[in-house]
Amino acid sequence: MSDLKTLETELLAAVEAAADLSALEEVRVRALGKKGQVSGLMKGLGDMAPEERKSYGQNINGLKERIGEALGERRAGLEAEDMAQRLASEQADISLPVRVGPLAEGRVHPVSQVMDEIAEIFGDMGFSIAEGPDIETDENNFTALNIPPEHPARQEHDTFYFGGQPDGSRALLRTHTSPVQIRTMRKEKPPIRIIAPGRVYRCDSDQTHTPMFHQVEGLVIDEETHLGHLKWVLEEFCKAFFEVDAIKMRFRASHFPFTEPSLEVDIGYAKVGDELRIGQGEEWLEILGCGMVHPNVLANVDLDPNVYQGFAFGVGIDRLAMLKYGMPDLRAFFAADLAWLKHYGFSSLNVPTLSGGLSS
Ligand code: PHE
Repeated sequence: MSDLKTLETELLAAVEAAADLSALEEVRVRALGKKGQVSGLMKGLGDMAPEERKSYGQNINGLKERIGEALGERRAGLEAEDMAQRLASEQADISLPVRVGPLAEGRVHPVSQVMDEIAEIFGDMGFSIAEGPDIETDENNFTALNIPPEHPARQEHDTFYFGGQPDGSRALLRTHTSPVQIRTMRKEKPPIRIIAPGRVYRCDSDQTHTPMFHQVEGLVIDEETHLGHLKWVLEEFCKAFFEVDAIKMRFRASHFPFTEPSLEVDIGYAKVGDELRIGQGEEWLEILGCGMVHPNVLANVDLDPNVYQGFAFGVGIDRLAMLKYGMPDLRAFFAADLAWLKHYGFSSLNVPTLSGGLSS
């Protein structure tokens, strides 16, 4: 009996002393394994008298159980310690830069970047985004915009036409984003406040003209919006877009069949070496056309011109990109030159936001 007690004390001390899980496993094998000390005791049972065997057997089982329990507790303790240590030592530095992979190598085209910037600025002013197809009807691109057949303005647009239909109508590639005005006003009731970015096409090609380019249309229709609102919206837009506090803008009287009065807007800049400085200097670049929506256009979409009024504008996106990012040649935009894109493109992970900086 006393040798059992001694063994128990010794084994419990060994369990307690095991410093880690592998040391504990050694103690378990030494005590309870097939050739272990407790199993060894069982062998002596055969030589004993039945009475003695019974009580000795019970004692060994009790010992086995208590050692087993102690082993289990110690194991749980060691596992908890192990976990606490791992939690303290294994750290992930979430501020490490993302590994450069094929995704980070790709570049966002400056035109896409500028479109995102424009959407961000007008989104902040409460405009939503509208869309229309590149292939338009003559009606949406011209007639409903107060440019009837035979109107001289049609010649100015150098339109790409598709083959004629038996009824005489011809589909065309839209020459401006203004047909989205018509589509929007036919679908939605005022108040309307939208921008519509997209591709437009004119049969024209030289250093500053490409047969496809980009515009963003703006349209606001309600019962009281006036020219002062238009001017303020455009000024705020230009300041936010060029990321300057002061902007030089020139509003010139102009003519568009779908607005009355009509204006064209130039941006003042200085050329210092190869760099363009917006808001200073004596050079001017035309960036947009605008005006109050013509009463005939409102009537064409069944809005009463005596009740509703508002403004529209059409901005050349490619020109804005050239000005802001100092890219001199418009044709390079569409040449699919990877070296150019690598130089002028933007990281896809840098989404423009007003709070985080549009072009940072
Ligand atoms: N659609 C005109 C153009 O392409 C621009 C414009 C839009 C002018 C809206 C006035 C109002 O030249």
